[in-house]
Amino acid sequence: MEKIVLDCDPGHDDAIAILLAAANPDIDLLGITTVAGNHTIENVTRNALSVCTVYGIDVPVARGSSRPLVIDQVIAEEIHGATGLDGPHLPPASFGLDPRHAVDFIIETVMENEPNTVTLVPVGPYTNIALAARKEPRIIERVKQVIVMGGSYTRGNITPAAEFNIYADPEAAHVVFSAAWDVTMIGLDLTQHQALATPELQERVRAIGGDISRFILDTWEFVHTTHSGLLDIPYPAIHDACCVAAVIDPTILTVEKADVRVELEGRWTKGQTVANFQSASGMRHFGGTASEQVDYRTNVAITLDWQKFADLIVDSAERLTYA
Ligand code: BDR
Ligand code: CA
Repeated sequence: MEKIVLDCDPGHDDAIAILLAAANPDIDLLGITTVAGNHTIENVTRNALSVCTVYGIDVPVARGSSRPLVIDQVIAEEIHGATGLDGPHLPPASFGLDPRHAVDFIIETVMENEPNTVTLVPVGPYTNIALAARKEPRIIERVKQVIVMGGSYTRGNITPAAEFNIYADPEAAHVVFSAAWDVTMIGLDLTQHQALATPELQERVRAIGGDISRFILDTWEFVHTTHSGLLDIPYPAIHDACCVAAVIDPTILTVEKADVRVELEGRWTKGQTVANFQSASGMRHFGGTASEQVDYRTNVAITLDWQKFADLIVDSAERLTYA
């Protein structure tokens, strides 16, 4: 079983990431940590507890950072609504929060498990992950890997250049992409353009029946309107679950090595992830000084096996429904 900590800001697609993490037999969900992103820390933390209640799971949930490291807070209410998870019925939480701050939860969890066994899965802004790496740098060599949802090597979704999770805390993203751990970036190129809740997938989930099936369909129904209006995609994007799927089955995606830098200052490009691909072998410099070393350390996700991904979602919904 792969041990993970899911750092999230639920969020409609975050809820589907929690579904896979909670139900898939190959995942040992050590805990959920929350971060301000899609909405305030109060709302996303309440949503995380409610989503766990819908799924009938009881895992540690630790509340985290309430604002980005440097910039002012940006939320995605235009996508996720006034609660951060508008649409589905959210029951009151059936259990309480872990007493620790998310940053301490992450550090303690990584340090108390065997080296090279815990994978961090940040699917909101990376504020908690960056703070944890700064507070206890030994986690950098101790984690197995970090699989992030965020960024893009083509175009953005909150600005032409930037993806939301990076744009909402670019300095935190800079910390994560420059630390010496094994990072996989699953960006919009994959999540927004390949990981869609097609009518076929929605029908399979509908056929399961019951409250969890209803909940999933309601999340997709809500973001169908906001996604198609703002992002010009035909069906809801299931961004965050792609990261959990990649832990379950790494063959679900193809990756290419790149050196990823986060644009921290550009007037039009702030929050852009600039990916210098190893395959573009002529590009040995990053601009700036010619002596700047290029380090192709990040695995950048390129293609998704959609059928396998859809099967994982249906399987997880069935497992929780019939548990
Ligand atoms: C990311 O932004 C959020 O709105 C989603 O939950 C996802 O993590 C996509 O850009
Ligand atoms: Ca998210």
